[in-house]
Amino acid sequence: MCGISGVVGFENISKSLLDSIRNLEYRGYDSCGVAILDDGCITIKKNIGQVDEVNEKERLTDLEGRAGIAHTRWATHGGVTRENSHPHASCRGDFAVVHNGIISNYHTLKAGLKREGHQFLSDTDTEVIAHLLEKYYSSTGDVEDAFIKSINILEGTYAIAMISVYEPEKIFCAKNESPLILGIGNDVNYIGSDFNAFIDYTKNTVVLDDKEYAIISKENYIVKDNIRGERVDKEITKIEWDAEMAKKGGYPHYMLKEIYEQPQSIINALNVDRKIIKKVASLIMDSDRTYLLGVGTTYYVSLLGEYYFSSYAGSHLSAISSDEFKNLAEVTDKTLVIAISQSGETYDSINALKYAKANKARTVSIVNVIGSSIARMVDLSIMQGSGPEICVISTKAAISQMIILISIALELGNMRKKITKKEKKRLEKELIKLPTIIQNILNEKSGFVNNIAQRYSGIKNWLYLGRGVYYPIALESALKMKEVAYIHAEGMPGGFLKHGTIALIDEDLYTVGFIPPREEKDLYPLIMGSIEEVKARNGFVMGFHFGDKEKDYKLFDEEIILPKVDKVIAPFLQLILGQLLAYFAAISLKRNIDRPRSLAKSVTVA
Ligand code: AGP
Ligand code: GLU
Repeated sequence: MCGISGVVGFENISKSLLDSIRNLEYRGYDSCGVAILDDGCITIKKNIGQVDEVNEKERLTDLEGRAGIAHTRWATHGGVTRENSHPHASCRGDFAVVHNGIISNYHTLKAGLKREGHQFLSDTDTEVIAHLLEKYYSSTGDVEDAFIKSINILEGTYAIAMISVYEPEKIFCAKNESPLILGIGNDVNYIGSDFNAFIDYTKNTVVLDDKEYAIISKENYIVKDNIRGERVDKEITKIEWDAEMAKKGGYPHYMLKEIYEQPQSIINALNVDRKIIKKVASLIMDSDRTYLLGVGTTYYVSLLGEYYFSSYAGSHLSAISSDEFKNLAEVTDKTLVIAISQSGETYDSINALKYAKANKARTVSIVNVIGSSIARMVDLSIMQGSGPEICVISTKAAISQMIILISIALELGNMRKKITKKEKKRLEKELIKLPTIIQNILNEKSGFVNNIAQRYSGIKNWLYLGRGVYYPIALESALKMKEVAYIHAEGMPGGFLKHGTIALIDEDLYTVGFIPPREEKDLYPLIMGSIEEVKARNGFVMGFHFGDKEKDYKLFDEEIILPKVDKVIAPFLQLILGQLLAYFAAISLKRNIDRPRSLAKSVTVA
């Protein structure tokens, strides 16, 4: 959600600034702009629309200069207009700022600044920062001092970058609860919301913590804490991903590329250090209760985890959507919270974790982005190693998180003597088979799913029915359909149907049945019963199943038949179908696949 970048160093930075916000586009945004300092003067160019459109309209790359900041905005305060786009300038144009987050006391600050004669050009909360800088500079004549005073008066969340005509070869930046990192190069330094902003130029990064600020120049960077203004020594972290991994590599969309990368990301998830997996299992053993925490897809990952822990470890772990965590959880020093997040920057999950920590819970995370806030705020972080996930829609990151949860569940199951060592080994062997099986499904079924998706993409309402662990798979598949194809799909447990929703069934409501293998004796007959109920009311049913052609039943109007596999991995085969169906339906409807409307890759606001 929103992207910030900055470059200071070489002669003409406008092209690399533009490239950097292009690399941040995946985070989600509605407008963009740049501010560049040249010859003692700041020039701002900005507008609504995509980076390339705005560049064409405003000729961003015509700007020349050695220090500049850029921004992709995801509007929170003030409509999507040119005036509200960032950067924002002070009255005299001596300071320009970009900001990600929300300044919660901006009303009061704005009223005060207006009384003192400052003229506002936008409706954003951000603009107050530019005027505060001007105000404090006029009394102190010191840019750093004005910067500290300004950020210390702000309440809320922010990543801020600023340039000023009074310190022409520097960028000032600060962070509180919104991501911001530095990129350290040779005679050039960068800032970015994440390392995609500068991965083409350097892999050395310094991660800022909350309430820290940094000043970067061509040859130098310095990090200090907001409160005392004292220097903080920071380590340089090397980014393991390379620029190529974040490119499309011949695929038409990142979403498809990332769906196809799932075999590899599962292998990486299975290779997570066993010691850490065991450690988390023993933390669960030692806790009175454990919560699995996520939101959106990661809530569904947590829910799937809940089923696996119940089946294979005989333990009930509660999955809670992180936005509701405070309203539901009971947290003490005997509680363990496992937070799951692709980006590691999701506001709702960070907030829930803060609450858990304030109540003395022990905390673990499963995160994809190194150095992200969630990875750093917990006692123990599992890096899932899925590689960059650029499409807003999560696919390969989610499947890896599921696999890691299963590995922990099997470990715990063995510790609790719910499954024997032998059984655990057998199940782990089945998991190892999964990448190849998924690869085959991708190779063999994609064309068929594409065909089906084209035929049914006009259907406006879908019911995705599952039971047991197939229920979170149905929910996650339905979310994919909503997110990327903008088609309404509702995930539901099969047994729940008859308690109300069945009233909706007619020939216009289409159903997908997530049918488990027949060996799932507690699930199979029941879900088939739910399908019968739909058919009895003239509903259309598409079956994702593991049977032979369901000749006896003749229930399915359409079916996708999957190979017979062990029940521990069977749900993932259906998840792949759910992802492909959503992708191809979105293609057929000409949706914006990698950046669907209104969505952001990391939702960093409340
Ligand atoms: C995934 O497809 C969604 N875009 C969204 O639900 C996402 O899973 C959610 O915002 C959580 O994000 P996180 O994994 O980065 O914390
Ligand atoms: N709150 C600011 C605005 O609405 C920043 C939004 C963002 O993070 O992009 O302009």
